[in-house]
Amino acid sequence: MAGKEKVLSVNHLVVNFKTDNGILKAVRDVSFDLYQGETLCIVGESGSGKSVTSKAIMGILANNAIIAGGNIIYRGENLLEVAEEEFYKIRGHKIGMIFQDPLSSLNPIVKIGRQITEATLINSDKLKLMYNDLISEDMIRYKNTLARMNIAIDTEKKKLEQLETEIRTKDYENPADKAADRALLKQKKAEFKDFTKKTKAEYQGEASELKKVLEATEKKAKQQVKEYKAQVTAEHKEALAALKQKLSAASGEEEKKQIKEEIAAEKEAFTNKLTITKEEAKRRALEIMREVGIPEPEKRYNQYPFEFSGGMRQRIVIAIALTASPEILICDEPTTALDVTIQAQILELINRIKEERKLSCIFITHDLGVVANMADRVAVMYAGKIVEYGTADEIFYDPKHPYTWALLSSIPDVDSKEKLEAIPGTPPNMIYPPKGDAFAARSKYAMNIDFREQPDYYKISDTHYAATWLLDPKAPKVEMPKIVSERIRISLEEDAKHEPAD
Ligand SMILES: Nc1ncnc2c1ncn2[C@@H]1O[C@H](COP(=O)(O)OP(=O)(O)OP(=O)(O)O)[C@@H](O)[C@H]1O
Ligand SMILES: [Mg+2]
Repeated sequence: MAGKEKVLSVNHLVVNFKTDNGILKAVRDVSFDLYQGETLCIVGESGSGKSVTSKAIMGILANNAIIAGGNIIYRGENLLEVAEEEFYKIRGHKIGMIFQDPLSSLNPIVKIGRQITEATLINSDKLKLMYNDLISEDMIRYKNTLARMNIAIDTEKKKLEQLETEIRTKDYENPADKAADRALLKQKKAEFKDFTKKTKAEYQGEASELKKVLEATEKKAKQQVKEYKAQVTAEHKEALAALKQKLSAASGEEEKKQIKEEIAAEKEAFTNKLTITKEEAKRRALEIMREVGIPEPEKRYNQYPFEFSGGMRQRIVIAIALTASPEILICDEPTTALDVTIQAQILELINRIKEERKLSCIFITHDLGVVANMADRVAVMYAGKIVEYGTADEIFYDPKHPYTWALLSSIPDVDSKEKLEAIPGTPPNMIYPPKGDAFAARSKYAMNIDFREQPDYYKISDTHYAATWLLDPKAPKVEMPKIVSERIRISLEEDAKHEPAD
C-alpha cells in the first residue's frame, strides 16, 4: 500500500470493560491502517473484539469501557484524546457507521422519509458547518494538549497504583523487605507529586497559548460567518426588491405568475445558501433513497420502518449514513441478519457506493465468505488481537495463522453450502485471557511455547504479517490443513481456467 494515503490509523489500541466479575480485556493491542479508497475487512468469531474496535473509532463505547492505551489517528489528530463534543462533529460527519440490526438505528414510529430528511437537515446547517470548519483545527489542537497532559499524568498514576497493589498483596517473609518496599512506595508517591506539578506547568503554558489562539480564531470565524450571512442576505434583498418592482410594473396575468415563481425560487435559493429548505431536504432525501436502490421512493417516503423488509431497512440506514457525506464508512456485520440473496444485494450496494463516493471502508464480519467479495485487505481477529493481516489474496491463498486456517476450513462450500469443519472449542473468557497465543487451546498445531508466550508478528511480505510461533525459524515445519490447501488448489485452477487464453 506504499504511496497510498492513510485516512485512519489505529495504533496499539487497548479497550477493557469493568464488569461484576472483573476487568474484561476486549481489545488487546490492536493496530491497523486504513488507506484511501480501500475496503479493509476485519474478520473473526463472535466476541473477538470487532465491534468494540469500531465503536472506539466512532466514540460510542459503553460507559463501562476503559480505553487503557493506544490512539486512533484521523486527519493527524487522535480521536481518543479530543472531547466527545468537538469530535462528534468529525465522527458524525466524516465517519459513518452502519450496524448489524437496521431496526436499532431507525425510529420505529417516525416515517422513513422524515428520518432521512431530518438527517439531511441536521447535516446541512451551512453556517454552523462553516463555523465548525473554521475553528476545528485550533480547537482540536487545544483540546489535544489538555488531553495529552491528562494522559501523561494518568499513566504515571496507574503505574503508582499498580505498585501499591503489588506491595499490599505481597507475602513478605522478611520484614526488612516490607519496610524497603514501603519506603520505595513513599518515594514514588513524592516523585509522582513532583511529576504532576511539573507536567501541569509544562503543558499549561502551551495550553494557555493555544487557548488564546483558539479564542482569536473563534472571534474571527464568528465575524466571517456573520459577513457571509450579511452578504448573502444583502444580495437576496436586492434581488427580491428588483423582482418586486418588476412585479408591480407587470400587467399581464401570465407575466405576473411567472415573476411570482421567480420570487419563490429566489427565496428558496436564499435559504439554501444558509441552511437548506425543507423542500430541498426532501428532494435530497428522495435522491439518496434512489441512490441506495429503494424502488418508488415517493411512495416509500411516507411509510414506517415496519413496512419495509430487512434488506430495504438496511438500505435506509445506509441512506441516512450517506446524508452526512462521510469519508469513511464502517459497516459492522451489515448483512448478518439478512438472507443470502438480500445479503448479496446489500454487499453489491455497499461496493457500488464505495466506488461512486470514493469512500474508505472498514467492513466487519464473522464470515470469510463475505470477505472474498469485499476486501482489498483483511485483518483476522481473535481474542482481542489481530492475529494475521494481509491483502485478500494473501489471506485466502497463503494463510499462515492456525486460526485463519480454521476460519478458512469452516467457510461453507460454495457448491454444497455445507460447512466443512467447525472450529473446535469456544473462544476464551476474556476476563482471564490465556497467556501466549490465545488460540493455542483450540489448535492442534499448538506448541509448548504457544501456551507461555505471546508471539510477535512475523513478516511474510511487505503487506502480510502473522503472529504465530509456527513462523519462527526454530519451529517445526507445519503444513496447513489439507482441506484448506485443497480449496486453494481448486480455486487457483478455476481462476486459471477463466484467464483469457493468449
Ligand atoms: N459493555 C460491555 N461490557 C462488558 N463486556 C463487553 C461490553 N461490550 C463488549 N463486551 C465484551 O467485549 C468482547 C468483544 O466484544 P465485541 O462486541 O467487540 O465482539 P465482536 O467481535 O463484535 O462479536 P460479534 O461477532 O458477536 O459481534 C466480548 O467478550 C464482549 O462480551
Ligand atoms: Mg460485533
